[in-house]
Amino acid sequence: MNTFNFDEEIIRRGTSCVKHDLLDSHFGKEDVLPMWVADMDFKTAPCVIDAIKKRVEHEVLGYTFAGDSYYEAICDWQWRRHGWRVTPEQIGFLPGIVVGMAYCIKAMTAPGDKILIQSPVYTPFHNLVEKNGRQLVYNSLRNEENCFRINFDDLEKKLSDNCKMMLLCNPHNPGGRVWEKAELQKIAELCDHYGVLVVSDEIHADLTLPGYKHLPFACVSDIAANNSITLSAPSKTFNMPGLGSSYFVISNESIRRRLKTYLEASELNNGHIFAFCAAEAAYRYGEEWLSQLLDYIAGNVRLVQEFITEYIPQVKMMVPQASFLIWLDFRDLGMEQSELVNFMLKRAQLAMNNGETFGVEGQGFMRMNVGTARATVKKALEQLKNAIDNYNFK
Ligand SMILES: Cc1ncc(COP(=O)(O)O)c(C=O)c1O
Repeated sequence: MNTFNFDEEIIRRGTSCVKHDLLDSHFGKEDVLPMWVADMDFKTAPCVIDAIKKRVEHEVLGYTFAGDSYYEAICDWQWRRHGWRVTPEQIGFLPGIVVGMAYCIKAMTAPGDKILIQSPVYTPFHNLVEKNGRQLVYNSLRNEENCFRINFDDLEKKLSDNCKMMLLCNPHNPGGRVWEKAELQKIAELCDHYGVLVVSDEIHADLTLPGYKHLPFACVSDIAANNSITLSAPSKTFNMPGLGSSYFVISNESIRRRLKTYLEASELNNGHIFAFCAAEAAYRYGEEWLSQLLDYIAGNVRLVQEFITEYIPQVKMMVPQASFLIWLDFRDLGMEQSELVNFMLKRAQLAMNNGETFGVEGQGFMRMNVGTARATVKKALEQLKNAIDNYNFK
């Protein structure tokens, strides 16, 4: 029985909310449906809200530390959900995944070092490397029948050429690919062989959809565990990305010491009251909510799939295996990227992410966020269909 109502349409405008309140400044237009930045329009998991309320009712917000029960909640969660044995010493607080990744880059590589990413990939992967003065190396993903595959020959060539770090997106954004064990093991072997440290961003892990199984990178082999930093968080899963509450897991002691020393030098690893209590509550009491959420997202994905197949077969989609982001392929419409972006905004009245911002491989693509009420997804699809039906294609 469904006890949580994901159909409820919540007004988020006027809450300094990026997705709804920055439409004008980001897209230059307000009257568009916000299907972009990756947070969900649902209420945050009630167990998280309750924990925060309870903490506030105490009425003293003093200095706080992460207690044993915070670490235990993370360890229990990783074991229960992913079969990954993590110990409290291996965990450290981070204020966010992207900042955490930046810290890893600064602490573990030197300016000018080569860092590999698999594009198209979440835009900050590109920016973090470039803006921190490291050298970007691309291992483009292959789009094979609307599923991302790794070009291992190219990967080996790039890793072997004095590369120092690989930023892995596991599961992958965009495209929602849940990497398979053999793929992750091969990455682990190659990186170990060529002395490349793997930073695995697993923020979407707990949003793996029914029918698929997420494998933490560090779980696939001893080699992987010994040569990796995992970045994780309950933020995306329980819809609390506004509450910095991420963490790293590192089993290799010398890698851990090096990152911790870097963080401690500027107290970058200090958490805050709400992060600790929210993360713990999510991991201890959020499982039923998550299970219903995943069914709902899977329903939204099915809706998009059925609608596109029936009404706009010119559009292709990558069916996500994890998360609420859909990589849509508009190449058959034959538009230049700027025309496509303009078309979405002006004709379809939809604010989606421009595929090109994920890398050149994203030309002809847009990313659509379906972490919203089904009625909104339906409306977006109708708008898209009408725009395509009424456009004068060359
Ligand atoms: C792959 C990936 N990593 C990190 C983030 C953002 O994480 P944070 O807000 O903790 O920096 C996102 C958000 O969309 C994401 O998709």
